[in-house]
Amino acid sequence: MNPSESRWTPERLEEHVRLILRDRPFLVIANREPYSHIRERGKIKCVTPASGLVTAMEPILRACGGIWVASASGDADKETADEKGRLRVPPDAPAYTLKRVWLTEQEEEGYYYGFSNEGLWPLCHIAHTRPVFRSEDWEQYKKVNQKFADAALEELAGSEEPFVLIQDYHYALLPRMIREKRPDAKIALFWHIPWPSPEAFGICPWGREILHGILGADLLGFHIQFYCNNFLDTADHLLEFRIDLEQFAVDQGGHRTRVKPFPIGIAPSRGMTDGPQAASARQEVMKKLGIQADHLGVGVDRIDYTKGISEKFRAIARFLEKYPEYREKIVFVELAAPSRTSIKSYSDLGTELEAEVERINQRFQTKSWKPILFLKEQHSREQIDLFYRAADFCLITSLHDGMNLVAKEFVGIRSDEQGVLILSRFAGASRELKDALLVNPYDIEEVAEAIRDAVTMKPAEQKRRMVRMRVILDEHNVYRWAADITSELSRARPDTG
Ligand code: G6P
Repeated sequence: MNPSESRWTPERLEEHVRLILRDRPFLVIANREPYSHIRERGKIKCVTPASGLVTAMEPILRACGGIWVASASGDADKETADEKGRLRVPPDAPAYTLKRVWLTEQEEEGYYYGFSNEGLWPLCHIAHTRPVFRSEDWEQYKKVNQKFADAALEELAGSEEPFVLIQDYHYALLPRMIREKRPDAKIALFWHIPWPSPEAFGICPWGREILHGILGADLLGFHIQFYCNNFLDTADHLLEFRIDLEQFAVDQGGHRTRVKPFPIGIAPSRGMTDGPQAASARQEVMKKLGIQADHLGVGVDRIDYTKGISEKFRAIARFLEKYPEYREKIVFVELAAPSRTSIKSYSDLGTELEAEVERINQRFQTKSWKPILFLKEQHSREQIDLFYRAADFCLITSLHDGMNLVAKEFVGIRSDEQGVLILSRFAGASRELKDALLVNPYDIEEVAEAIRDAVTMKPAEQKRRMVRMRVILDEHNVYRWAADITSELSRARPDTG
């Protein structure tokens, strides 16, 4: 079979899901909504968030239809939905239903900021930020999981054997809650972030309840096998259930949860064919920013302590120190989206990074040049794509990352087969993108050397690496991810006994 025959497309996925579902409902639950409506200068505007999960899930829903249940987040969300919180999206070409769930301030505080993002997030990422576990947050987390279970059950009423795809660490308790009311449902939970070792997970005061909630699912997915192994080890340490290490499954009475890796991909991009080529993208970027440079590097991150942004800046400084001939010749642009800013560690990080950039720029800058531009705002898809096209290299320094789709987006767009990806070996994407320059972001020296390798790499070598990475992306796109999960879920056997 030639590669184009085996390639997954939206049409092929739609057909695949239609055959599997046979008119049964397809429900996705993910906290972050793909479209939120906000008020700006008296007008209602539709915005899309900075979230790898949304980047991945949105094309699937577009292809398959179904319902996406999410937290409402915009101040004009209410008036753009019906009385059940529903609206058809994308707004310009409706293809599926978004169902918004409204949370009170107290619920959002405890469930989203508190337990999910100050508890589970640092618990699962090795980034040396201590998790904070407050019993009030845990109470809200349980309450909100129940609220989402109720919203899902409302949508599932009157159907048989629905497919429910739950996304991420915000909903560890949801699989069990839904299974209890709907034992006929086929339930998958995909955990988009890493899973820690049993020792690390063991510090969570409600670890057993979390595992019990998760194991209500028929299928539990992670990006890589390593996180699956960590999960099975954790379940083995904390619970009495039988772990089947041959089949990668946990058996509890008559119920089985299979634990499998499904590395997520991106939707195939049209590459550089429908936009400016590298040289004109470069000109456009330089003109917009009012800069001049022979070499352009780009970084795209949410402002999050797991992303290693400060390590990245330190590596750029080290590069300029070691290779002074690049002063005035290279500019690094960091597109940094503010994230979870109500949490102190996040808002403090934004301020610290600004100070760090200021310090580095002051040290190296000349009258007409600064090495780092830190653009701290939410950028649109089109703006980000322009930088991907224009850059000589993309620098990703996550200290720990489930997958990191920025790496894949950069490679996906470079149909000119040029550009160098420098990628942290602690991001899940490094398992597939072995032709990136893989670095340990804590090793500033190594990252500085990788920058040097990137800016001196011959076009033929860039091409060799890019081509290989693009083949992998092409084969493992997000449609295939969804097809693999739904196929596996359809094979889940009903509970016995
Ligand atoms: C990670 C999580 C997603 C989340 C995204 C953005 O990628 O796995 O679930 O949506 O970060 O974070 P936010 O808290 O803004 O949704």
